[in-house]
Amino acid sequence: MRVGFVGWRGMVGSVLMQRMLEENDFAHLSEPVFFTTSNVGGKGPVIGRDVPPLKDAKNIDELKSMDVIVTCQGGDYTSEVFPKLRAAGWQGYWIDAASTLRMDDDAIIILDPVNLNVIKDGLSKGVKNYVGGNCTVSLMLMALGGLFQNDLVEWATSMTYQAASGAGAQNMRELISGMGAIHAQVADKLADPASAILDIDRKVADFLRSDEFPSQNFGVPLAGSLIPWIDKDLGNGQSKEEWKGGVETNKILGRSNSPVPIDGLCVRVGAMRCHSQALTIKLKKDVPLDEIEAMLAAANPWAKVVPNTREASMRDLSPAAVTGTLVTPVGRLRKLAMGGDYLSAFTVGDQLLWGAAEPLRRMLRILIE
Ligand code: HSE
Repeated sequence: MRVGFVGWRGMVGSVLMQRMLEENDFAHLSEPVFFTTSNVGGKGPVIGRDVPPLKDAKNIDELKSMDVIVTCQGGDYTSEVFPKLRAAGWQGYWIDAASTLRMDDDAIIILDPVNLNVIKDGLSKGVKNYVGGNCTVSLMLMALGGLFQNDLVEWATSMTYQAASGAGAQNMRELISGMGAIHAQVADKLADPASAILDIDRKVADFLRSDEFPSQNFGVPLAGSLIPWIDKDLGNGQSKEEWKGGVETNKILGRSNSPVPIDGLCVRVGAMRCHSQALTIKLKKDVPLDEIEAMLAAANPWAKVVPNTREASMRDLSPAAVTGTLVTPVGRLRKLAMGGDYLSAFTVGDQLLWGAAEPLRRMLRILIE
């Protein structure tokens, strides 16, 4: 199989390359070909074997000779190139990290530890477009897959704490710049143990509201604050990120015809690349907590149940603990005061791994095996 890679140099693409190297994926590809939008003829990435010079990612004839194309180049690229490629008669598999095609009827949202059955069904029906899900949705399903597999969820709300990486590499830089700039404002006062905390706080607050605060990318400060809106305004009070929670979850599960209502509030916080979410889940019945924990832990190898204790929650259930790893821990599991069929849960996951790159490389493995 000739597999073409587009957008392998960006943030998600780089994580994809790193994961493919770690899992020795390239050894299973007879002919990996790397494309570029800016450096045609340049050298491809170091993958432990020779690769041909970079090809033009806008050249439909070059792209057409691929059996599979994996793209992390982003939604604008997909919108521009994908229709031309299909119009030119290309029949290959398109594996995409961008959201552009996600909700199309002829696309499957890929998250194989949760929906391998949906993916296999798509393959057998000749579906050719396989698209990674929204990161928050994928991470929620990795952690809570056991409840959905057992059809226990009547409805759920997800209140998110989303990392800067979901908005892009520049936004991650801006978050750190903001943290540093805040510190720089009050470094002298901080170093003086006798300084008054309210003086420090006033200086920080004035700086957060000033034009000097680095907020070009987010538009408002993230460091020292939060942003209670992610993605577009759908005009009905809901953000596009919140809308995705419901539609994508049900599409991934292959139950768009009998959807589980999922809704909530999506909030950006000052974490680097781990999205967290607090869930309230209305169960279809009052299942004992130990059974719920067993179901969650058994659903896939990455959904780790964290005991609902202060110590374990603080240690294991945070962006600091999870970042850069594939585990999707789920904890704070308890029945809420509303009754035995109301469950709380909190989960954390790396937005660039299961939230973006990992499902793509695994889809490629499914195709070539
Ligand atoms: N929309 C997500 C976010 C990122 O802004 O965090 C990717 O799914």
